[in-house]
Amino acid sequence: MASLSSRLIPADFTPAPSLLPERVIDFDAVTAFSPDLDAIGFAVTTDGEVDAALGLDRAALARAGFEGKPGQSLLIATVDGPVVFAVGAGAAGELTADTVRDIAATFARAASSHARIGLSLSVVGAVAPESVGQVVAEGTLLARYRYSELKSEPKVTALTAVELRVEGAETSGVTAGIPRGVVAARSANLARDLANTPPGYLTATDFADLALSLAETFGLDVEVFDKQQLIDLGCGGLLGVNAGSAEEPRMIKIGYTPNGEPTGHVALVGKGIMYDSGGISLKPSDPMHLAMKMDMGGAAAVFAALTALRDLSSTTAVTAFLMCTDNMPSGSAYKLGDVLTARGGTTVEVKNTDAEGRLVMMDGLALAVEEQPDAIVDIATLTGAALVSLGPATAALFGNDQALVEQAKAASAATDEQLWQLPLEKKYRKQLDSDVADLSNLGGPYAGATTAALFLNEFVAGLPWAHIDIAGTMQSAADDSWRSKGATGFGARLLIDFLLGFRRVR
Ligand code: BES
Ligand code: MN
Ligand code: ZN
Repeated sequence: MASLSSRLIPADFTPAPSLLPERVIDFDAVTAFSPDLDAIGFAVTTDGEVDAALGLDRAALARAGFEGKPGQSLLIATVDGPVVFAVGAGAAGELTADTVRDIAATFARAASSHARIGLSLSVVGAVAPESVGQVVAEGTLLARYRYSELKSEPKVTALTAVELRVEGAETSGVTAGIPRGVVAARSANLARDLANTPPGYLTATDFADLALSLAETFGLDVEVFDKQQLIDLGCGGLLGVNAGSAEEPRMIKIGYTPNGEPTGHVALVGKGIMYDSGGISLKPSDPMHLAMKMDMGGAAAVFAALTALRDLSSTTAVTAFLMCTDNMPSGSAYKLGDVLTARGGTTVEVKNTDAEGRLVMMDGLALAVEEQPDAIVDIATLTGAALVSLGPATAALFGNDQALVEQAKAASAATDEQLWQLPLEKKYRKQLDSDVADLSNLGGPYAGATTAALFLNEFVAGLPWAHIDIAGTMQSAADDSWRSKGATGFGARLLIDFLLGFRRVR
């Protein structure tokens, strides 16, 4: 690692993704639990039967304050053998894949001090056995995630075994779904690790080195472009944003090629601002801005999603562009009034150096267009306006092709990574006019997520395109179902699902 960080940290440090293959645990569907488990959870709905194996009836549970509501759990001490938990499952008639994922998350977190755990589901409604296997794996592994790489004495108990018993379901069906959930959670947790890693530990150069080092493990073609190569490519946006930094920028181009004839080709573009200080439009010293180490959450989600594709036999080919630099103020920083030239020649007047995301994304989108893919999807922690309008639970979705947007919505519904489509309102486009250049990087005071999306739209050359603004959803203030406090990894599972289901729209 030739970057500043190598002077601050031990030379052998690399971010250690929590769930790389060598760390994968035993995860099995069973008809009866092994006798040596440490903890067993029984899902209990708010109505209907209580599993007799729990040893307590509904009245006894109610006296202990447990009603079976989603998110509730009750520890039931035992004389010997595994500790038992009642886990709230909500109304029996309302069970969905999302609630089953949440049940698994609630239990995994309640049993956080236990390494060998078993979850018993007596009803799963209309959720197919394979889907149960998948979402239980996701909920369990996502809820147990903690970023503890930098703790001297991590207080986490790693899972070593998970057993899942689903009453009335063939174990073969449940078993079949588990690997997809394990791989999806592994990806999301990798995205979380990347976003949680402090900016001094993960520079653009470090990210590129990590991508190169993991390429073979995950069957990816990784090509890294350094500063000189970005100059040769004419990526004036990425270079302009990088100008104030002591760290070099990196553009990481990643290819995934399926075995056999691809059923489609998608280009992905991720915002990789390793730290966003705002540049000379400096952000105030607000606790919120601690989170600007996560301003590479889009690039992290793209990279993480790519690591799942071979294991899940995706037939969609992917070309990805991760646009990586930090955004820093200094004597060499880009200034308000500067004009940057994007890959492809579009000139952009800089009216705010904190609107840097769109400047690095414009080069990535222009490069994506050159691949002539069937569709382009970009993902970026782009605007505070997305957080203000939709909050931390839902990301903003935009697009120029409704059929493609619907595919993104379907992936969102399957993964519980919520999206809400906002209009790409063309009336606001003139807010991006500049007196001196082709475009300005700043819109008006309203609809900031939309004007940012309109800016990106200028670079997709009319190809089918969807844009996901994850500024609100990139982090969670607290443990909350599958989200663990800190970086959420939002977008990794959604992109995996999207790519696995992708169909050409034109
Ligand atoms: N990275 C920020 C957006 C952001 C805000 C992400 C809050 C996560 C949480 C982005 O680069 C930014 O600074 N956007 C500005 C744009 C504005 C200057 C037009 C914003 O939203 O304030
Ligand atoms: Mn910014
Ligand atoms: Zn930013």
